[in-house]
Amino acid sequence: MTNIIQWNCRGLKINLLELTLLVQSFLPIAFCLQETHLKESDNVSLKGYNMYSTFSKVDERAAGGSSIFVKDNVIHSTVQLTTDLQAVAIRLSLDKTITLCSIYIPPNSIIDKAKLKNLTDQLPSPFILMGDFNASQSIMG
Ligand SMILES: *[C@@H]1O[C@H](CO)[C@@H](O)[C@H](O)[C@H]1NC(C)=O
Ligand SMILES: *[C@@H]1O[C@H](CO)[C@@H](O)[C@H](O)[C@H]1NC(C)=O
Ligand SMILES: *[C@@H]1O[C@H](CO)[C@@H](O)[C@H](O)[C@H]1NC(C)=O
Repeated sequence: MTNIIQWNCRGLKINLLELTLLVQSFLPIAFCLQETHLKESDNVSLKGYNMYSTFSKVDERAAGGSSIFVKDNVIHSTVQLTTDLQAVAIRLSLDKTITLCSIYIPPNSIIDKAKLKNLTDQLPSPFILMGDFNASQSIMG
């Protein structure tokens, strides 16, 4: 069983306990979080997982942001993205290799299809895009 979770957590640090419970229940091989509200200097970690994050600030306060956590025993690599979207992407070697991308699009911004296409063009296929598009949906590509 391969579980991948997506959650717009609205603050990773304040929800770390809930996240720990979620992880213990579903034992995901990876999960995507949005609105992590992390600063680069924040030292957040979850035992058994590697964390990859993109950070974002509004008026010098951490806001938005997006992370992917990958289980220790899953072979994986980061995908370098050139985008101003709050996105992070990882290639996971499972039965087959897939790209997982976590993206956060703030509710006050317009979803720019060209930017989104620019991003998805950078994701090796097949990919799963998980995020909060102000309607909590996932797009499979
Ligand atoms: C981050 O946290 C880990 C585990 O709690 C600790 O071992 C490490 O020293 C901390 N690093 C920094 C830079 O604070
Ligand atoms: C994608 O977006 C990045 C950053 O905005 C830009 O540097 C790059 O040229 C774009 N790529 C294409 C193919 O439009
Ligand atoms: C996000 O959702 C709210 C509530 O449904 C809506 O008022 C707002 O216009 C939406 N924003 C965008 C960018 O679609």
